[in-house]
Amino acid sequence: MSGFDTHWLDLREAADHSARDGNLRKRVIDHVAQAGEGALVVDLGAGTGSTLRALAPEALHWRWRLIDNDPQLLAEARNRHGDEARIDYIEAHLDDTSAKVFSDASLVTASALFDLVSESFLARLVAQLSQTEAGLYAALNYDGVCRWDGVHPMDEEVVAAFNSHQRRDKGFGTSLGPSAAPVLSSLLEDQGFQVTMAASPWRLDSKHADLQRQFISGMATAVMETELLGEEEINDWCAARLERLESSGCLVGHWDLFALR
Ligand SMILES: C[S@@+](CC[C@H](N)C(=O)[O-])C[C@H]1O[C@@H](n2cnc3c(N)ncnc32)[C@H](O)[C@@H]1O
Repeated sequence: MSGFDTHWLDLREAADHSARDGNLRKRVIDHVAQAGEGALVVDLGAGTGSTLRALAPEALHWRWRLIDNDPQLLAEARNRHGDEARIDYIEAHLDDTSAKVFSDASLVTASALFDLVSESFLARLVAQLSQTEAGLYAALNYDGVCRWDGVHPMDEEVVAAFNSHQRRDKGFGTSLGPSAAPVLSSLLEDQGFQVTMAASPWRLDSKHADLQRQFISGMATAVMETELLGEEEINDWCAARLERLESSGCLVGHWDLFALR
């Protein structure tokens, strides 16, 4: 278990898909189409295959290599996609992946992943990519912004503490958290890639009440773990936010990034 269960990934998928920047998505699809029949896409931290579905229907004709260290999520991906596209399901820790994994790829993708990784992981990945012809499409990198329509006096402190939790080690060393996309962009540019970034925020409203509920509760748990704020004030903030679920929208900022040699 990676800590990301199917229920949570399913809950966020519709919001993720509508948040992805449409222009970058189209450029990514055009890039793979140019590579022609049999183009290979490698998806890092693939979970149940959300990126494949986000790029469907075109993506169903591509070859995919879905890599994740969680066997249950990969089993669910196989359950959903089986032979629908030509897919290899690879159980591996991303720290252990060698450049060989990308050598024949037209595109490497990742979504909701790079805010979990360290700068040294990204530096190694970019060095490996620069030995290949592959482009990189990294979607939904959290940017540190959470903003609700109706302000609560504790919002700012809670989000600051949450962002400090986002920088904790998630299995790759100190996480980049909200700085993931700008750091990745600069590493790629240093290696001669042309990089485009576009905002891809979640815009949550009463239709996303279940997602908001889990997001707010998860945020409160993370903030509690930081011990930066008192238990009572976190519980009060969480209760007030949950009470306003149906009436207050919420924006959670992300960056999408597409890079080509
Ligand atoms: C937030 S989820 C995103 C999943 C999927 N990309 C999506 O957008 O739904 C992060 C994914 O990264 C995977 N992951 C986390 N650490 C990993 C590691 N060290 N090696 C391989 N996969 C990892 C998790 O199992 C999970 O599937």
